[in-house]
Amino acid sequence: PQARLEALGPIPAVVPVVTISDGVDAMSLARALCRGGLDVIEVVLRTPAALRAIERIAAEVPEARVGAGTVTSPEQVSAARRVGATFLVLPGSPGRLVDAALDSGLAVLPAASTVTEMMTLAERGFRTLKFFPAEAVGGVRLLSAVGAPLPGLRFCPTGGVSVANARDYLALPNVPFVGGSWVCPGDALRDGDWARVEALAAEAASLSPGT
Ligand code: 3PG
Repeated sequence: PQARLEALGPIPAVVPVVTISDGVDAMSLARALCRGGLDVIEVVLRTPAALRAIERIAAEVPEARVGAGTVTSPEQVSAARRVGATFLVLPGSPGRLVDAALDSGLAVLPAASTVTEMMTLAERGFRTLKFFPAEAVGGVRLLSAVGAPLPGLRFCPTGGVSVANARDYLALPNVPFVGGSWVCPGDALRDGDWARVEALAAEAASLSPGT
């Protein structure tokens, strides 16, 4: 059976998508996000510093639930598991990658952007999917249109989501939370401006689904 994302417990309305470069203090960043109310954190495996950052957050920031994003290969699944990630976010859903992610025993959020991909993942037991890249492939209108034919599925739209449009997504009945990088701007991370990250997180955490 699918390792459900719900196994993580309640998920805040916004999952921050974080790109960590060399020199960024990942633990301070994670603590700032948690203080703001966003304790489910996706660190994307797009930089050499990402795995080490996940490892440190997992070991040193117990109030955070940290996962690996942009997982594109079975090798990355193993690496993320080894460093203590609690969940995996896949930008798509090729079969071999989904198999490896499920075998890891971690919670898995695979992505779909078409009705066929959504149905294929539903067949495999998934109920919550990432909808990516949300704004580029149809945004709120697409998710609203799939609600009737695919009533059992819920989506985490990511890609072009920001404080400006998050409310429109969260108002949909099939959107319990959204993902986005806007709460972790690169310059704030570089400068160690944790007050700014905390304020952005608090603003995001004040959003709620169904409103
Ligand atoms: C992702 O990997 O989910 C996206 O790159 C995040 O998209 P955003 O930067 O538009 O929020």
